[in-house]
Amino acid sequence: MSEEKRVTFGSKLGVLMATVGSAVGLGNIWRFPYMLGENGGAAFLLVYIICILILGLPVMITEFFIGRHTHRNTAGAFKAVAPGTKWSLIGYNGVLAAFLILGFYSVIAGWTLEYLLQSASSSMSGKPVEVFTSEFNIFSSGIIRPIGWTIAFIAVTHIIIVSGVEKGIERASKIMMPLLFLILFVLCIRSLTLPNADKGLMFLFNPDFGKITSSVALSAMGQAFFSLSIGMGCLITYASYFNKKTNLQTTALQVTLLDTLVALLAAVMIFPAVFSFGIAPTAGPELVFITLPNVFAQLPLANLWSFIFFTLLALAALTSTISLHEVATAYMHEEFSFSRAKAASLVSAGVLILGIISSLSFGLLKEYTVFGLTFFELLDYVTAKIMLPLGGMMICIFVGLRVDRKILKAELTNRGTVPFYFFNTYAFFMKYVAPVLIGLVFLNELGLLKMIRRLIV
Ligand code: PHE
Repeated sequence: MSEEKRVTFGSKLGVLMATVGSAVGLGNIWRFPYMLGENGGAAFLLVYIICILILGLPVMITEFFIGRHTHRNTAGAFKAVAPGTKWSLIGYNGVLAAFLILGFYSVIAGWTLEYLLQSASSSMSGKPVEVFTSEFNIFSSGIIRPIGWTIAFIAVTHIIIVSGVEKGIERASKIMMPLLFLILFVLCIRSLTLPNADKGLMFLFNPDFGKITSSVALSAMGQAFFSLSIGMGCLITYASYFNKKTNLQTTALQVTLLDTLVALLAAVMIFPAVFSFGIAPTAGPELVFITLPNVFAQLPLANLWSFIFFTLLALAALTSTISLHEVATAYMHEEFSFSRAKAASLVSAGVLILGIISSLSFGLLKEYTVFGLTFFELLDYVTAKIMLPLGGMMICIFVGLRVDRKILKAELTNRGTVPFYFFNTYAFFMKYVAPVLIGLVFLNELGLLKMIRRLIV
């Protein structure tokens, strides 16, 4: 496909918004707090921040490089740089990851729609904590409603992808993102002023270093990749639409900062309330959904707050599902020459099947597990903890080995027109630190490190 024919993002702000739109989503507001709660709080947070800085940022810049340099979709990009080699497997890993993530992400996105509707229809104030929890359990383990919402969410994503109205979404997110910040901020304040809020803050910010285990490290690393939308070529696909003037470094920095800020705000909104209401921090995927209604119930006009919040959350999820869908659709469209509509339909049909099974794994199919994980948990584990970090590692190795440093620098400095002060530091982290660290976390988690140590000693 020729460069001229490819669409590009309209404006500077458009580039940032679309990319932030992909990064900020359920990963920050739903997955981050629940991972944090399950992995010991502050210890997890610390490792997470380290992962964002030394893995996330270099990988993101590298993905931007690949995307804009090749102007291709994820799989095509690797073929363009290294034709006829196995490197294109990285691209396929990404396309498959996008597809699998959509399969479980749409279920949670569907939950936000149920909550949106409920805030418009039934009164929340005055209900005890247990009622919110049991209502959630009844809903999520059901069949018709959660599946219906999952299908609805996939359908909306599908329509946006085929009708190419991303521009409208891009515009909407310029208003939506600041609003999301605002409401998160208000909810943080409400949460922080609840009785026993300080216990939540201790949990969040007072690390117990003894809790940093290999599985905490793997979870934090996976969460960093998931939240920044990296390791699977989503940002390669987006960067392929960037124009010559887009400053790749500042865009990466801004996206990373905003994404981390939203995650932190989400945690400050959730944990003081969790401790105040006596909810278990380890509750899992339902944590946000059973905690937040209690916070809303403490506010005047509870239903209105809830309605606004879940509308924004659903939209934040939508900008992420669009980016995931785009990865798979762009791949099918460009590599198999399917029309965009046909490519998108095939992707949506597949996602629908995964979504239905994932949704049922909270109820009817709960007992069917693989390695102790339900279907939903399996998709989440395999993508976030294996495919994304592995993809990120391979992307770094690929660029480190196959791309001339001069070409890398030229692209990242827009042919020398913008400075890159820390280019050497970046190149070092990308080429050596990131792949080695990711590899070590994997080896450690598999228990291989212990084995190697035993063999050596
Ligand atoms: N980053 C998105 C979120 O936090 C999820 C996502 C992952 C989107 C990978 C695209 C690619 O919600």
